[in-house]
Amino acid sequence: MKQKSIKSIRQEFRKGGVFYTPPELAEKLKEYVDIKPKNVYDPTCGAGNLLRVFDDEVDKYGQEIDAEQLHGINISNFHGAAGDTLLHDAFSDMRFDCVVANPPFSVKWEPEKLAEDLRFSIAPVMAPPSKADWAFMLHILYHLSDDGVAVVLEFPGILYRGQREGKIRQWFIENNYIDRVVHIPENTFEDTAIATCLIVLRKNRTTTDIVIENDGISRTVSLDEIAQNSYILSPSTYVCKEPECMHLDPNEIRADARKTFLRTLRTTLDMEMLTCSLDRESIQPFIDDIKRILAEYDK
Ligand SMILES: C[S@@+](CC[C@H](N)C(=O)[O-])C[C@H]1O[C@@H](n2cnc3c(N)ncnc32)[C@H](O)[C@@H]1O
Repeated sequence: MKQKSIKSIRQEFRKGGVFYTPPELAEKLKEYVDIKPKNVYDPTCGAGNLLRVFDDEVDKYGQEIDAEQLHGINISNFHGAAGDTLLHDAFSDMRFDCVVANPPFSVKWEPEKLAEDLRFSIAPVMAPPSKADWAFMLHILYHLSDDGVAVVLEFPGILYRGQREGKIRQWFIENNYIDRVVHIPENTFEDTAIATCLIVLRKNRTTTDIVIENDGISRTVSLDEIAQNSYILSPSTYVCKEPECMHLDPNEIRADARKTFLRTLRTTLDMEMLTCSLDRESIQPFIDDIKRILAEYDK
């Protein structure tokens, strides 16, 4: 029988709605884990790739809706549970030093069944039924220990979408849980054709600033600036790439605009002179209008 390539296996997975987290992406998430965790948890662990990169002695916990994927996991110190993480939280009484996750992007969920659940009722509103992204973020926050760090790969829409999602995002920011946001451009890793983002969460932050990274450039952004931008966290709002981000001098911009205006005025008058050459008087009302406007400003 012809052996399948890794690529075709992944494509088959994708067709079945199962997405694979490539090892390089797992390493990238781990780069932001700046503590030595005793345990690490992935609430949507799939084949366990985000957990696999941690040392053997670290306790690894994972929940996965697709039992088949879960049963295939063969990593040291792994404690797995099958089931829907949002509906049936298998590790409800546990908090973890580290949470890593690549939850499914913008899937439906059933908030009405979980209205009393402390994981979600802590936020001012429930995530919309059409998009579970912030529900997964709240679940992750709930399971994060006070000194822990969570790194979550997310769909960039959660950084700017409004309404209920905007309210939850504002709540996360105002409660000082978001430490860093990193833009991951499309095609950075195999199987990541769309742009994504990493969100780093902590509960023990000593500043309200948020570090925002875009294409290797990082900027520390104040809470005030984020509030002025309606709590949008899209990296392009705060860190733009060259050349669109070249420093602009307001005096230079004004001088350029004036030069352009004077040039346009002269060209317009030249045209008028040309078209009125047979009837010089007809240009006079136009010139009088210009003089009137100038007189208003020439104080
Ligand atoms: C992008 S994949 C993550 C892959 C994983 N990091 C890996 O290493 O294979 C998202 C995973 O979330 C699982 N999933 C989706 N909804 C879930 C839910 N409500 N509870 C638990 N797992 C869920 C999917 O079956 C899929 O395996």
